[in-house]
Amino acid sequence: MKRIQIGIIGTGWIGEIRAHTCARHPLVEGLHLAETDEARLRRVAKDTGARTATTDYRELLTRKDVEAVLVATSGSHREAALRALAAGKHVFVEKPFTLLAADAVKAAAACQAAGVVLAVGHSRRRQPTNRKLKAMLQAKELGVPIQAECNLSAGAALGYKPGFWRADRAESPAGGMAGLGVHHVDTLQYLLGPIARVMAMSKRLAAPVDLDDATAILLEFERGPLGFLGTCLVLPKVLYLNVYGTEANVHTEGEGAKFFVQKKGTEEKVSVPMAPVDIIGEELEDFARAVGFPGIIAHGMFTMGHLATSLTEPPQTRRYESIPGARVGLLLAAAAVIATLAVILGLLQLGGGRNSSGVAPPARVDPPARGGTAAAEARNLSAWLRRHSR
Ligand SMILES: NC(=O)c1ccc[n+]([C@@H]2O[C@H](COP(=O)([O-])OP(=O)(O)OC[C@H]3O[C@@H](n4cnc5c(N)ncnc54)[C@H](O)[C@@H]3O)[C@@H](O)[C@H]2O)c1
Repeated sequence: MKRIQIGIIGTGWIGEIRAHTCARHPLVEGLHLAETDEARLRRVAKDTGARTATTDYRELLTRKDVEAVLVATSGSHREAALRALAAGKHVFVEKPFTLLAADAVKAAAACQAAGVVLAVGHSRRRQPTNRKLKAMLQAKELGVPIQAECNLSAGAALGYKPGFWRADRAESPAGGMAGLGVHHVDTLQYLLGPIARVMAMSKRLAAPVDLDDATAILLEFERGPLGFLGTCLVLPKVLYLNVYGTEANVHTEGEGAKFFVQKKGTEEKVSVPMAPVDIIGEELEDFARAVGFPGIIAHGMFTMGHLATSLTEPPQTRRYESIPGARVGLLLAAAAVIATLAVILGLLQLGGGRNSSGVAPPARVDPPARGGTAAAEARNLSAWLRRHSR
């Protein structure tokens, strides 16, 4: 198996975890770090035995021996990801992929043009509970899937100070969606397929900074089931994802550790033991393997597990309405990707009337047309974006 040299841009919370995973992984021949915080850079470089370390990631991108780059910066990954792509590197970018659909389309087009691998870090779908649930759905053990319910919330915003990147509305649109809820959006689509329609409300109730801290979303999957997703930034941690079907209900919680099945005709939830999985290590391994065989990815025969986005298909888009006092959003349309990865991408400002309470009514907007050739799908998506952008 081919070994590769990897660069990491941003060695904060998740970047440091990724750096340690790379340092001990047999497919990684050498590690190179870029981090603007010099003290942190030196410490992580020492702890991981990195070959090079720089405070300017553009320097890292000039290195010919670095084939692949992990972008784990705070805030938007756009600039670093696009520069890495322009430098011909394979790119792994932390979620959220981008915050604007247009940026995602641009990044996807850049990857396609450069013939490089693009992967998005949605590690949570790899948790053992989600895999077990997927297997049960495939084996029809839940009967007809009817409803999904999930919530990923935490209390971090109670401690946010103005100036912190996560406290910036531009970086955290719809409050917890970019940091937390996006994980469930990905996992739900891994389990139940593309989301066709969404209605959402998002508002600020308790955060000390100007940020939405409560978001509630209703979903409709293309295949029929309905769903609810909640994400809040001012609560003691909440993490569960449940799917209910005509034959059984499945409840999952505890970061992939706890799995319960309630079969038709009983009220008892039976616990099923789960073996832990190194989801971060696996994700890296898939990325490293994909980099070793980019031609296979390009032909769609190997899909990097569920991580690699197909760069030949337009990505999902999201629509969001911003109204003083209340926000009503619409999240639309996941276009299929080779690896079935669906990513929350863009915030598109929508117009909309108000009712007497001053809250805009949720509108129904049909998703962009699907199917046909990749080029036809891309044309449909661009036309859809033009129609619905303001
Ligand atoms: N997959 C997951 O489960 C997971 C978990 C946590 C965070 N994340 C994502 O990872 C990203 C980073 O989150 P975090 O919590 O690690 O943030 P963080 O603030 O702890 O770390 C970000 C680091 O990037 C550095 N940085 C910022 N701009 C830079 C630049 N131009 N060049 C080099 N370094 C730069 C900062 O100094 C900081 O050390 C976010 O997008 C977040 O959503 C994903």
